[in-house]
Amino acid sequence: MKAPVRVAVTGAAGQIGYALLFRIASGEMLGKDQPVILQLLEIPDERAQNALKGVIMELEDCAFPLLAGIEAHSDPMTAFKDTDYALLVGSRPRGPGMERAELLSINGAIFIGQGKALNAVASRDVKVLVVGNPANTNAYIAMKSAPDLNPNNFTAMLRLDHNRAASQIAAKTGKAVADIEKLTVWGNHSPSMYADYRFATINGESVKSMINDEAWNRDVFLPTVGKRGAAIIAARGLSSAASAANAAIDHMRDWALGTNGKWVTMGIPSDGSYGIPKDVMFGFPVTCENGEYKIVQGLEIDEFSRERINFTLAELEEERAGVAHLLG
Ligand code: NAD
Ligand code: LMR
Repeated sequence: MKAPVRVAVTGAAGQIGYALLFRIASGEMLGKDQPVILQLLEIPDERAQNALKGVIMELEDCAFPLLAGIEAHSDPMTAFKDTDYALLVGSRPRGPGMERAELLSINGAIFIGQGKALNAVASRDVKVLVVGNPANTNAYIAMKSAPDLNPNNFTAMLRLDHNRAASQIAAKTGKAVADIEKLTVWGNHSPSMYADYRFATINGESVKSMINDEAWNRDVFLPTVGKRGAAIIAARGLSSAASAANAAIDHMRDWALGTNGKWVTMGIPSDGSYGIPKDVMFGFPVTCENGEYKIVQGLEIDEFSRERINFTLAELEEERAGVAHLLG
C-alpha cells in the first residue's frame, strides 16, 4: 500500500462536497491503492461547522479502507497544511440582483486568502482544482496570490462542460459516450465557452462528418452545452452537484494518473498557445502524463472558431480586469 496523500476540500459541507468526499475516500479519484487523508475546510459559521461534523460522521461510518484520516478546519492555513491536492469548491453563489462584479469581488477576497494559504503551507507540488464560480477567474486569483508555487499547479474546472458536450454528441450520433475522442471546450466556464467537436472522432470516424449539420452545432449544441448549468438550476432549484463532483473526480484523476494519450479539457494558465495571452486561465484540450498536463498543439482554428474563442477570451479578460485592483 502507498503512503497516504493529503487532499484538502473546501466547501466540504456543501452540495458538491457531499457528492465528492465519499468518492475521493473510496479511491475513485486517486486509485484503489492510494490512501488519503481528508482535510476539510468550511466557514467558521456554527451551522456550517455542525454540518461538516455530520458529513465526517458519515465518512467514518463508511469505514473506507483507504481513508487514513479526516480533519475538520475553519482556517485555510491549517486546512492546506502539506496538502498534495486541493479542491476549492467553496465560494459564495450569486444572490438575487447581485452584479457579476460584486460576486467577483466577494469571491476574489476568498481566493486571495486561499491562494496565500496554499503558498504558505501546501506541498510545493500541490495540484489545485478550482470548482467554485467564477471558476476560471477564482483560479487565476489563487494562482496570482501564490507566487512561490508553480503557476501550472493551478487549474479551473471545465470538465463538466467537456462531459456535457460528450453526452450531447453521444445522444445525437447514437454512439457510446466512451468512444468519443478528441473533444474539447475552449475558454471560460460560462455560457461563453466554445465546445468544439471539429476534431472529435468516434471509433476513428469524424464526428463532424457524422453530424454534418452546422445549424445544429450553432443553434442547438452550443447553446445546450453553454446553458446547461442554468437549465439544471431551473429544473432542480439548485445548481448541479453530483455531475460537478463527478467532473472534479475526472479532472483530478486524469491529471494525477494520466490520460493515456486521450484528450481532456482543463482550465489552465495559458502559455500563449493559440493566441491566448499568457496566464489567462483558459479551457484547452490537454493530455496528461506523469502528473503533468500538456496542451494539444497544432490544431487549425477556423474563422468561426476564432470568433468563438475571442468571445470567451474577451469575457475572461474583462473578469481579469475586474479583479486587478484586488491583486494590487
Ligand atoms: P453550496 O452552497 O451547497 O456549498 C458551498 C459550501 O462552501 C457551503 O457549505 C459554504 O459554507 C462553503 N464556503 C463558502 N465560502 C467558503 C470559504 N471561504 N471557505 C470554505 N468554505 C466555504 O454550493 P455547491 O452547490 O456545493 O457549489 C459550490 C460552488 O461550485 C459554487 O460556486 C457553484 O457555482 C460552483 N459550481 C461550479 C461548477 C463548475 O463546473 N466549475 C459546477 C457546479 C457548481
Ligand atoms: C454549472 O455549470 O452547473 C454550474 O457552474 C452552475 C452554474 O451557475 O451554471
